[in-house]
Amino acid sequence: MTAGTALVTGANRGIGRAVAAELLGRGLDVVVTARDPQDARAAAAGLGPGTRWCALDTTDADSVRRAAEAAGPLDVLVCNAGVLLDARTDPLTVPLELAERTLKVNLLGTWRVIQEFVPRMTGRGRGHVLIVSSGTTAEFGGRLFAGAPGYSLSKSALNGLTTMLAEQTEGTGVRVNAVNPGRVRTRMMPGQQQLPEEAARFIADVALLPHDGPTGRFYAEQR
Ligand SMILES: NC(=O)c1ccc[n+]([C@@H]2O[C@H](COP(=O)([O-])OP(=O)(O)OC[C@H]3O[C@@H](n4cnc5c(N)ncnc54)[C@H](OP(=O)(O)O)[C@@H]3O)[C@@H](O)[C@H]2O)c1
Repeated sequence: MTAGTALVTGANRGIGRAVAAELLGRGLDVVVTARDPQDARAAAAGLGPGTRWCALDTTDADSVRRAAEAAGPLDVLVCNAGVLLDARTDPLTVPLELAERTLKVNLLGTWRVIQEFVPRMTGRGRGHVLIVSSGTTAEFGGRLFAGAPGYSLSKSALNGLTTMLAEQTEGTGVRVNAVNPGRVRTRMMPGQQQLPEEAARFIADVALLPHDGPTGRFYAEQR
């Protein structure tokens, strides 16, 4: 008997991979997903026995549906997959093609995953969806960071999605929260101090809050 089953999107590297390892270490069965099946398989092999894997490209509805069918019942869904394509731009001049691609992955991709997985969770009457947001957002009020405008808007929209979904799933046994891991040294943000493993501990703490814990919250790493 394990502590439940978790699935992490974008788990082949960076924060997602570290979160998968942390949840595995805390006794969960983990389904590692990545848009490239070879990457998903390699990540699962690297994390050790018992780790399952499947391909999941958040921008591809068939891929998301197949992953949901293959994964089976989940207790924790970590929506981690994301891109930062418009760093060092500004809202007046950023090529909108970059903003569009960003929204496609960060907002619509996450939303697509949630639409596929959450009804399965509400059907079981339990589950925790944790959306990896960002400090570039307005959190649940405030100013957005303008230096990566498409990214900031995509993550801010995810915060809005979190509150809507929390309201919609109220009373179903499913909770939906957002988490800002702080700045983390990954391919997305290579110059940062915090290691993915540190961020993963915080994300896992939030992911594993008790079954009757809060919903519709934004959890931010204090650094
Ligand atoms: N690093 C930070 O300081 C920081 C701070 C706040 C929030 N975040 C958020 O944390 C999450 C992870 O970022 P990271 O820093 O670990 O960046 P990363 O190393 O660039 O990892 C991004 C992950 O997302 C995956 N991904 C991208 N598009 C995808 C798609 N369409 N379908 C499935 N997976 C996809 C990537 O897969 P491929 O390898 O196939 O590209 C990769 O596994 C992101 O949501 C990011 O916005 C990061």
